[in-house]
Amino acid sequence: NLYKYEGFWYHQGFWFHSNASFSIEVIMALQDEFQAQPSNVFLASHPKSGTTWLKALAFAIVNRAMLKNSTDSNTVHPLLTTSSHECVPFMETQSFLNNPYHANDLIATHLPYSLLPKSIISSNCRIVYICRNPKDVFISFWHFMDKLRDNLSPPIKLEDAFELFSRGVSPNGSCWDHVVGYRKASLERPDQVLFLFYEEMKKDPKNEVRKLAKFIGYPFSEEEDVDEEVEKIIELCSFEKLSKANKDAEETPKVIPNDVLFRKGEVGDSINYLTMEMVEILDKITLEKYDGLDISF
Ligand code: A3P
Repeated sequence: NLYKYEGFWYHQGFWFHSNASFSIEVIMALQDEFQAQPSNVFLASHPKSGTTWLKALAFAIVNRAMLKNSTDSNTVHPLLTTSSHECVPFMETQSFLNNPYHANDLIATHLPYSLLPKSIISSNCRIVYICRNPKDVFISFWHFMDKLRDNLSPPIKLEDAFELFSRGVSPNGSCWDHVVGYRKASLERPDQVLFLFYEEMKKDPKNEVRKLAKFIGYPFSEEEDVDEEVEKIIELCSFEKLSKANKDAEETPKVIPNDVLFRKGEVGDSINYLTMEMVEILDKITLEKYDGLDISF
């Protein structure tokens, strides 16, 4: 269930969940109570753009000593027993609000740029954004919502989901506007906002992981053995590894089941579902919205 908040000007026009977490009440409380630290790194995304993957990669980079431990001994890496969503919590949840001081500096958010607590911008801490082709975001989201639906609700029709998505009715607002907010910030302040593409990460993960590591303050040197370390992180966080690992740890009850978090993990799967007309409509919106922002897929 989504609803549009019509309160203060800076919240207007965005759609939010009506459940306790990710709700407007929590977001408003964050505005007043959350004090970002300069050492924090925010991992931001529109849902279904690769958040789970980005969280895993950033966590593996920051905690890369764990990688050594888990290969040298029988210690299992936390990403293989715990979801990356537990390793890197979302800020806009009640549990985060109750305990905003985590051992880890990594914090995630689905909030649009304009709704970030002001201390995030003023403290000058770093923000990493992951963007994905809206067509794949849509198809991923449609599957996600359908898998989460209770047995009593009818299946969600693709046409109905499409109508809402293309009108910008998505949690945290339109997928395109979400991207535009962070894209503009990254162009204005590249030192504070790193803008990554899901598609680039699939194509050249080594380069993107190195870029990410450098930006969040954990750079890799150019030496050959370090390259191996980068490859290990990529392998650890790969779709194949994480989806299987999470299946193995299935006995731990999860808020979102693993088969919902990990579906296909591919670029361009939307072509298997969208009609030509739907493709044209989404491509047209994308072209218009991203005009002049140097975003292409
Ligand atoms: P698909 O539904 O297209 O498969 P988010 O994490 O933001 O909710 O995004 C979910 C999408 O990222 C899903 O896309 C999911 O399969 C994909 N994904 C999850 N983990 C991934 C990984 N390690 N590598 C690549 N894609 C991944």
